Amino acid sequence: MAINRTSSHGEWSSRTAFILAATGSAVGLGNIWKFPYIAGENGGGAFVIIYILCVLFIGIPIMLSEVYLGKRGRLNPIASINYISEKENRSNKWQIIGFIGILAGILILSYYSVIAGWTMAYGARTAFGVINDIDAAGAALMFTEFISDPERLLAWHTIFSIITIIVVSRGVKSGLESAVTRLMPALLVLLIALVIYSSIEGDFYNGIRFMLYPDFSQITWKTVLVAMGQAFFSLSLGMGALMVYGSYLSEKISIPQTCVIVASLDTLVALLAGLAIFPIVISSGLEMTQGPGLIFQTLTVAFGAMPGGQLFGTLFFILLIFAAWTSSISLIEPMIIWIIEKYNLTRIKAAAIAGGMAWLLGIGTIVSFNLGSEVKFFNMTFFELLDYITSNILLPLGGILISIYVSWLVSKDSINAELQIKSKILKLIWYISARVIAPIAVIFVMLNALGIDINILR
Ligand code: TRP
Repeated sequence: MAINRTSSHGEWSSRTAFILAATGSAVGLGNIWKFPYIAGENGGGAFVIIYILCVLFIGIPIMLSEVYLGKRGRLNPIASINYISEKENRSNKWQIIGFIGILAGILILSYYSVIAGWTMAYGARTAFGVINDIDAAGAALMFTEFISDPERLLAWHTIFSIITIIVVSRGVKSGLESAVTRLMPALLVLLIALVIYSSIEGDFYNGIRFMLYPDFSQITWKTVLVAMGQAFFSLSLGMGALMVYGSYLSEKISIPQTCVIVASLDTLVALLAGLAIFPIVISSGLEMTQGPGLIFQTLTVAFGAMPGGQLFGTLFFILLIFAAWTSSISLIEPMIIWIIEKYNLTRIKAAAIAGGMAWLLGIGTIVSFNLGSEVKFFNMTFFELLDYITSNILLPLGGILISIYVSWLVSKDSINAELQIKSKILKLIWYISARVIAPIAVIFVMLNALGIDINILR
């Protein structure tokens, strides 16, 4: 069947709209919920440095490649790659990139939506004053009680899933652009206010020291893998989300600058979240290695103690929910646009199918925090396993395939036309990173961390 390459595809109204949408996708729970807790679990400063290196040398080059694929293909991820392969006389096997991405998106969304549900619950608690004057022990107890109740988690997960489905059924652009334009700056302002509070009331010196002072003795290959996985996760890379957003880009826009802006904003938000959280963790006597509950416990203590914390905290959680929405939309969109273009279903039906699958799978994550917390796969709970497989395996794998495909197999003319990198030196840098550095780094880290001793260093 011949596919009309524009029918279901809209276009961003401007370059700014694309930047906003891509930033909306990138900035989410990954920055504010996940980054602090995995940095905390993996030793702080050294992890943060490795993370930043991964963003620069692996994340940004792969991001360019991914947006290129979407902008050139102008279809859903699988069809875009097939279209390009046909033009470039390459095997149609490369469409596997699209399948990996669609699968990864739904797997991630299934637990993302559960955590977004926690955010809603905590927003409600803060609004009703339940957390006023709570101490660290109280916050820890509250969190434990909360996650041991599967019904509650299911209720919030369901609400978040329904809202995501409703929003994506209406199309990516209507609503998304305006939501991101207004809410992202507000989130940034509130985050900065939180950092200021934390610098006054928290143990700022030791918090910053924990986050920035590198203790490389704690670093193993596993840590490097986790930092790299987090870079993919936080930048929304390796699964076609940015490919889909790139496919809505108009012909004239240059990709590289745009990608650097998105990556910088994303990293800024993660670092600010760390600066806000760590000093309070230390001053309130909570543990850095608290895991997924870290920000919920820390923020409850902070908002509970702060003058105006009820209002400020409620606002903060509301904005975080919006940040999670704009991200979850990009997790589900590749599958939706694929269903629409492949099976000719309406957007509403496609949204219900994809959203329903993620919702169902999410129940596994919910149960892994309570009833099924003893059920282990390779020593991980179901939630940990999903997170590990997606962030540390599927996204990096998708990422290197994208990088290799674009930088080795696509004609230079096409890349030059779409990427529009003007300076020769920058072009060379991109080629070297995308062709060699990024793929080798990813493969090397994965092999080592997955326990295969490749004997290179001996
Ligand atoms: N980047 C988002 C965050 O940090 C999550 C996310 C959205 C994502 N789209 C993605 C992660 C695509 C991987 C791939 O919260």
